[in-house]
Amino acid sequence: MARKFTEKKLVIASHNPGKVYEINELLSPFGVEVVSAGELGLPEPIEDGETFIANAELKARAAAKGAELPALADDSGLVVPVLDGDPGIYSARWAYNPTGDGKDFDLAMDKVRQAIEAIGENPAGQNAYFACALSLCWPDGPNDGHIETLEGTVHGTLTFPPRGTKGFGYDPIFVPINYQLTFGEMDQAVKHRISHRADAFNKLVSACFN
Ligand code: IMP
Repeated sequence: MARKFTEKKLVIASHNPGKVYEINELLSPFGVEVVSAGELGLPEPIEDGETFIANAELKARAAAKGAELPALADDSGLVVPVLDGDPGIYSARWAYNPTGDGKDFDLAMDKVRQAIEAIGENPAGQNAYFACALSLCWPDGPNDGHIETLEGTVHGTLTFPPRGTKGFGYDPIFVPINYQLTFGEMDQAVKHRISHRADAFNKLVSACFN
């Protein structure tokens, strides 16, 4: 039985304003006051876990300890089974471009295509899924650093060349099951309803907020 969240305030363990905004929106029906790790000036921990869950938990633990408040963290990425799960937890790192401004997802999507071709498989139509781990950690003290973690996924196939300018990251090469449009082409309200983050968040709400 998961622990219920009964506190009034929560820290979102992220320095990414887009993620903070999205989580804030999702939490708004529950009347929780939200503050971000960035606003509190908390340092970003090194994400050296080997799974989405491990990374979400280490971020949530660090923020709960630093803020002395319950903390919610997420870790997510694109998993391609034929690539043994890559880019997976390294999804952000595959976009690293030392000569640009640091993040280049055209480069990352092309690396995915090349990696699949390099093993003699067809990149187009290849199975893939997005995964998201969400961790809610209570601070040390009466609630003893307790942690609840839920994982969400959305399954689909890859398409090349990338299509669509909405969304972010690997969205232009991902077509969710039962849809024709990529995450980069579809109305973002639809993406947010069916995404890996929505799936994880719905599970978190059922476990801890209802
Ligand atoms: P994180 O901030 O360490 O969780 O990195 C997540 C990375 O996974 C992002 O930089 C994106 O590359 C990728 N990613 C996660 N969720 C999505 C999504 O909804 N669409 C596209 N890419 C995503």
